[in-house]
Formats: sequence, structure tokens, C-alpha cells
Amino acid sequence: MRKKIIAGNWKMHKNNSEAMQFVKLLKVKLVGYKKTEIVVCPVFTALSSVKSVLEDSQNIKLGAQNVHFEEKGAFTGEVSAEMLLSCGCDFVIIGHSERRQYFCETDQTVNKKVKKALSCGLKPIVCIGELLAEREANQTMNVIERQTKALFEGLSEQEATKLVIAYEPVWAIGTGKVATPEQAQEVHAFIRKLISELYSEKIAEIIRIQYGGSMKGSNAKELLSQKDIDGGLIGGACLEADAFKEIIEIAESLG
Ligand code: 13P
Repeated sequence: MRKKIIAGNWKMHKNNSEAMQFVKLLKVKLVGYKKTEIVVCPVFTALSSVKSVLEDSQNIKLGAQNVHFEEKGAFTGEVSAEMLLSCGCDFVIIGHSERRQYFCETDQTVNKKVKKALSCGLKPIVCIGELLAEREANQTMNVIERQTKALFEGLSEQEATKLVIAYEPVWAIGTGKVATPEQAQEVHAFIRKLISELYSEKIAEIIRIQYGGSMKGSNAKELLSQKDIDGGLIGGACLEADAFKEIIEIAESLG
């Protein structure tokens, strides 16, 4: 059985002191939740401070929101995988739709970032998902197939099992418009089928696929109960401790 993973993508919110204060609170509120893997992803500048607060946490892990695919050099404004590791990160979000939309990330750069992260021992949370226009044009599965195949390009079986996929329909992000459990399950099952074709059924059964897009306490149970939904990548609802805790409690109750 796949362990559920709930990750909070803080996006561009919370400065250093706000981040430290918040994670101190989270640490207390989330103590004892062991069945679910919990990850917080603050902005780069808060990673080290948040890690210092989490040093004695038994169950909250640290992730970053982006990484560069080069090791070092003249890449102003970029951060390498090794730098993230040195801040105490276990995870890194790669290819979020906001990065694809506003910062020109492509299927190819996403694949390069995934390879780099894995080679350093960071676990990628790789985001895929269709735009509203693509869903309306019945292109969802084509887009998902293209993105999924591209992200796995050149990865060994062993590398593939280390990553987490986040299916985030772009039209559901920050809009309050959540995908129905049936819509989400359909795409998750499709992604798992693609992985079994790319690798094997065994590998497809290991890889976790999170749902992201307006997930909150009131809809998490239905979504997380679906056979192929193994967790959530949470935006808005992870910025408030009780709202984030509510989702984690639901994941715990579902095992
Ligand atoms: P919301 O939960 O705010 O819709 O954001 C989802 C998201 O983009 C997580 O990466």
C-alpha cells in the first residue's frame, strides 16, 4: 500500500519570521501523525530557518519549490539541487504550472531538473496538468500523456520509483473549482496506466500520484478515498495551520 503524501506549497508567501513562527505551530499541531508523509515547501530564503525549527520534528519534511538543472555557474538567480540538499531539503517541486506558465518551463527543462534532483538524492514532486481550454477541447489525456512521457524520459526504474507525481488541473488551482473525485480518479488511473506501459505494473503500483487544485478539508475525503489518489499538493489551504491539519487528519484516517 502506498503511503499517502500531503505537501504544502507555500508559493510566494511568508517571510523568514512568519515561516518560522508558522512551522513552530505546525510542529505542535501535527505531532503524532505518522501514517502520512508530510512536507512543507517554503520559499528559498526561508528553507534554512524552517529546517532549524524542524530539526527535532519526527514527521515533517522539507521541500523547495524549484531547482536549476545545472550544478553551478553563471546562472543568476538560480539555485542548485546540491544547495537545496545543504539546506536540509528532502523534496523539490518541479514543473509547477505557474513555472510553466510564467517562467517558460517546458517538458524538456522539467525532465532535466528531475534528472538533476534525483542524481543528488532529492525527491522530485513533478507537476502535470491540463489548462481549461485543453480540457474543453477534449485534449486532457493527450496533454497528460505528453507531459508524463517527457518527465520520465531517460530515467531508470529505480530512479522512477523515487519521484512523486502531482496531477494539478490548471483550471482548479487557486480558483476554488475542484476537480470532481471522478474526474481526478480518471486522470490518475490514466497516469498509472502510462507508467505501467513505460516501466511495469509493479513500478506503477509504487509511484505515488497526488492531486492538487483547491483541495481543502471539505473535499479532501472524497478525493483521497479514490483508488489512485495518493495524497495532495496543497496551495491556499496549507497557509493556515488548522486548514492544513484538517487535510492531514483525513489522510491519516484513510491510512
Ligand atoms: P490551491 O490549493 O491554492 O488551488 O493550489 C494548488 C497548487 O497549485 C499546489 O501546488
